[in-house]
Amino acid sequence: MKEIFANDVDAGLSASIKSLPSKYFYDSRGDEIFVKIMNMPEYYLTDAELEIFNCQTNDLIQSFGMNGEHFEVIELGAGDGLKVINLLKKLNGFNFTYAPIDISVNAIKKLQKRLLYAIPWLDFDGKQGEYFDVLDSLKDVGKKVILFLGSNIGNLSDAQAHNFMLKISESMERHDKLLIGFDLIKPPQIIAKAYDDPHGYTRDFNMNLLVRINRELGGDFNINHFRHVPVYDEVRGLALSYIESLDDQTVSLSATGKSYHFKKNERIHTEISRKYNMKIINKIAQDTGLIVKETFFDDRKYFIDVLFEKE
Ligand code: AVJ
Repeated sequence: MKEIFANDVDAGLSASIKSLPSKYFYDSRGDEIFVKIMNMPEYYLTDAELEIFNCQTNDLIQSFGMNGEHFEVIELGAGDGLKVINLLKKLNGFNFTYAPIDISVNAIKKLQKRLLYAIPWLDFDGKQGEYFDVLDSLKDVGKKVILFLGSNIGNLSDAQAHNFMLKISESMERHDKLLIGFDLIKPPQIIAKAYDDPHGYTRDFNMNLLVRINRELGGDFNINHFRHVPVYDEVRGLALSYIESLDDQTVSLSATGKSYHFKKNERIHTEISRKYNMKIINKIAQDTGLIVKETFFDDRKYFIDVLFEKE
């Protein structure tokens, strides 16, 4: 695990255009900061999707098209389960297993505790893992509803999103469903504020990556010599996060035994959060053997949950 982290960081910092994978944001401190982000008013995404899940629960359930047969509700990147709790409650009487998958063992354990407390009858079968890795095993599952919520797909490049959905599509049969939460393109000031917040949480979230590298890989990043740079690219619909070096400096990592040079103003690209519209969504669906069966918007049309079926 640590070796993979070291290799990924080494590759990212050795490249001519430096980058670090955003999945490494989520250590325990990162999880904590992300909760703060979700709770701040500027981060409209969480509220918007929660509204969809709380106000359109019955429509969502109907769209699954399940009757008496057993099915699995597989949630990729489950997190705290806040959105699905209402849905799962209302699925009382259906014959199903809730199978969340999350990269953090801790998150899965917490989720299990919370859900079984709220829904004692729930058949819970959580797994720890990276969701990319579990996609292959999806083939062996019977009838299923796959959930990929919270705009987690936004962290993927268009090519990665394509591959991801193709892989899921290949694991699906005619009766299976896939529900994905996409953040929508909207006036740029609204998006910019969600990723450049006045509380500094997004900055802490981004900079925590360097703190984690220092701690886990024996790095000597001086955090004060770097700054958080959020950029919203309105033309492409991409919120981008960077960490910028404030001067000419060299950083060493004991885990790799190497040093990495940063020029003044040189940036490390740390995250992409893609914003979508129906045209982009329909195109990916078409290219991956899926069709858009139903759409669920929040009232302000900031966010959409799309139900896909096999073509
Ligand atoms: C967890 C990927 C949905 O991109 O909006 C929040 C992460 N980054 N603020 C997003 C994030 C900065 C978030 N996702």
